[in-house]
Amino acid sequence: MKLTLLVGTMTGTAQLVAQELELAWDGSDDLQVETLLMDQLDSSVFERDGVFLVVTSTYGQGDVPDNARSFYEDLKAKRPDLSRVRYGVFGLGDRTYAETFNFGGKRFDDILQELGAQRIGERVQHDASSGVLPEEMAAEWGEGWLALAKEAVPA
Ligand SMILES: Cc1cc2nc3c(=O)[nH]c(=O)nc-3n(C[C@H](O)[C@H](O)[C@H](O)COP(=O)(O)O)c2cc1C
Repeated sequence: MKLTLLVGTMTGTAQLVAQELELAWDGSDDLQVETLLMDQLDSSVFERDGVFLVVTSTYGQGDVPDNARSFYEDLKAKRPDLSRVRYGVFGLGDRTYAETFNFGGKRFDDILQELGAQRIGERVQHDASSGVLPEEMAAEWGEGWLALAKEAVPA
C-alpha cells in the first residue's frame, strides 16, 4: 500500500509528527510512505494511488497554515471528484483558541468530504496546551490508524 502524508505547517510541528509517523511505520510490510509538504501541491496530488493522511496545524483565525493555503484554495476552486480517495486527518491546534480549535484539520476534512472522499477513522485533534507531545500522540495513534487504512484498501 502507498501512503502519502500531506503536511501543512508554520513552525514545523506538523512536519515532526509526519517524521514520527514515518519512523513508527518503518518496516511495516508492503507499505511505502512518502511525506510531501503542501507548499507546491495542487489538487492533482489526489490522482496518486494509495491513501492519504493530512497532517496540518491551524493559524490566524482558524485558517490553514500559509504553506497549505494555495493547495486548499485549489481544491475549493477546482472541486475535483475525489470519490476514489481515502484519507485521514491529524490536526494540530491549541484549545486556547476555543472558537477555532483545530480548524486547519477541520477545513481539510470538510472540503475532502464535500468532494466525495471518504475518511478513514476519526479526525484527530492534538491540543498544544494539553501537555501531550504531538509526536508522541501520533506514534500511539498511528498503529491503529494504519490497521484501519489497510482494511479500507486491501492490497
Ligand atoms: C499566531 C498563532 C495562531 C494560532 N491559531 C490557532 C487557531 O486558530 N486554532 C488552533 O486550534 N490553534 C491555533 N494555533 C496553534 C497552532 O496550530 C499549534 O501551536 C500547532 O501545534 C503549531 O503547529 P506547526 O508548528 O506545525 O505550525 C495558533 C498558533 C499561533 C502561533
